[in-house]
Amino acid sequence: MDSSQGTWQVLRPLLAALFTDDAQRTIFLTRLEERFVSLADLLLGLYGDRADFAEQFERILTTAAYAFIARPPAMHALDASRDAQWFQNERMVGGVCYVDLYAGNLKGIRERIPYFQELGLTYLHLMPLFRSPSPQNDGGYAVSSFRAVRPQLGAMEELTELATELRVHGISLVLDMVMNHTSDEHEWAIRAKEGDPNYQGYYLMFPDETLPKLYEQNLREIFPEQAPGNFTYVSELQRWVWTTFYRYQWDLNYANPTVFNAMLGEMLFLANHGVEVLRLDAVPFLWKELGTNCENLPQAHALVTALNLLFQVAAPATIFKAEAIVHPDEIVKYIGQECAISYNPLLMVLMWEAMASGWTHLLQHSMTKRFNISANAAWVNYIRSHDDIGWGFANEDCAEVGIDGGIHRIFLNRFYTGQVEGSFAVGLPFGYNPHNGDMRICGTTASLAGLEQAVQRDDAYAIDLSIRRILAMMSVILTVGGIPLLYLGDEVGTLNDYSYQHDEAKAADNRWVHRPYANEQALAQRHDPTSVAGRIFGNLQHMIALRKSHPIFAAYNPTNWLNGNNTHTVLFARQQGQQAIYVAVNFSAYSQSLDLRQFVRREHVTDLLTETSYKRDELLTLPPYGMVWLQSISPILES
Ligand code: GLC
Repeated sequence: MDSSQGTWQVLRPLLAALFTDDAQRTIFLTRLEERFVSLADLLLGLYGDRADFAEQFERILTTAAYAFIARPPAMHALDASRDAQWFQNERMVGGVCYVDLYAGNLKGIRERIPYFQELGLTYLHLMPLFRSPSPQNDGGYAVSSFRAVRPQLGAMEELTELATELRVHGISLVLDMVMNHTSDEHEWAIRAKEGDPNYQGYYLMFPDETLPKLYEQNLREIFPEQAPGNFTYVSELQRWVWTTFYRYQWDLNYANPTVFNAMLGEMLFLANHGVEVLRLDAVPFLWKELGTNCENLPQAHALVTALNLLFQVAAPATIFKAEAIVHPDEIVKYIGQECAISYNPLLMVLMWEAMASGWTHLLQHSMTKRFNISANAAWVNYIRSHDDIGWGFANEDCAEVGIDGGIHRIFLNRFYTGQVEGSFAVGLPFGYNPHNGDMRICGTTASLAGLEQAVQRDDAYAIDLSIRRILAMMSVILTVGGIPLLYLGDEVGTLNDYSYQHDEAKAADNRWVHRPYANEQALAQRHDPTSVAGRIFGNLQHMIALRKSHPIFAAYNPTNWLNGNNTHTVLFARQQGQQAIYVAVNFSAYSQSLDLRQFVRREHVTDLLTETSYKRDELLTLPPYGMVWLQSISPILES
């Protein structure tokens, strides 16, 4: 504490001298002073053993100060106007898409703003759009410059204008911060290949395979089929480079404070260009230590916490979203101090698990145990993303409800690749690892939920069931606490797209099957309630509108998972003061009856979706994959 105070006394005047505007200087220094001790502690923990620590610390704070000074007035105004809970309100509804696949380019995205509004979006995640190698770039997750848009999509100025225009229409722009690695064509990597020792220090390089082999003993393989191992021999360097993902994605060396500082600069640059949420890609992998699995290490947490503190000083309107697809116990550690929002992969996989099994006991049990997070944070609840679905539920949770997690995963993989009699799903395997039998699943929401197979069979009943499955899952993400996030295309039932198999750059990576082009034909049918697209879109739009008109759905209001004595139904209550909404969703292909007396403690309830009223002592029947959002404003009954 004392030494931090001393450092503050030294650094304060140096930082103050960078400002010409008195008001700005005061704001910056006030915000920084409030966080200085925490920040100094974190950075000392990471870099304190270096002789040049003081100099490095000053450089990091100078980066933050210059970014603050360069921040446009409109963004400063946003910083000042935002309350801490802006991202938690009931109006938040997210969509995610690839710019090229969904709209051609940034101009196309701009032209779709009226459509985004029609759907009700307030959060738009554009998949990686920065310069990256061609033809292979891991869907843009190999970034060659964090400051240049891929020319086919547009230019940086256009992105900035788009961010402003989206904001005017009430939509926050979300972009990826691919912070674990750069592409091997990034200027830093190129300089490293040219022999510059400074830039070689940005990455993790080894003269021979001795250390890589030692590290490898404890590491996972993320893409065992396409990119086995975690190291790549780079002939220009005659060295082995750490590459957790593809060979052209070079992991950054965060043990080097110059890297921390450089990435802080890139992140603040994006925040100054209007990005309101940065999705921190592959965040568990940021720190490596021999003898560990190099995931979720305390230093990775310290890094993100320090970056968040610096953002609270220099660009507080921008928040972080965690992409940590790891064990549920580890995911929650990124939420709160580090990231205001986080994917909720557990709910995602358990919804698919419940769809396959027809049972909701694992989902209810895991959610009851794990759903609650810090009141200052929010889950991002989704049905599927651009990535594969990996069965990341906890074996402990399975055991607690009498399931063998390992065997269940085998069943689920078989179910979603159509190898189980009666399966409705059309999915593809991904990341099969012959050493441990691991496998994940690819497919669009519609294809995994049965629409593809039903359409092929021209089976009207099966089509109906598949639409119900899709709406059932949408109903959950729209009502449970957090921000619902739709993969755009799913709103009109877009099926798997197999065209990637003919594209050399994509053929080896099955994830492209669920990254389809926008389906213009389906989009054109969205107002026709007799079409498949129209049924999904119309019902979804109705549910979104209902969500947005009921403040009880705000993320800061609690979600209470309930026991309704029906193991095929998802059941929870949202609560705000005396008000309650009970959400029940049937995850089975059979009708289910619910005894409202088990969980409703009011005289009457009304289903918001159909405006039907029920008495507490009536037996309510949910049709296959049916749902109710039961509102009660009548007083709580004495128990
Ligand atoms: C994240 C992305 C994924 C990508 C990987 C490497 O997991 O979501 O698409 O392949 O990071 O950047």
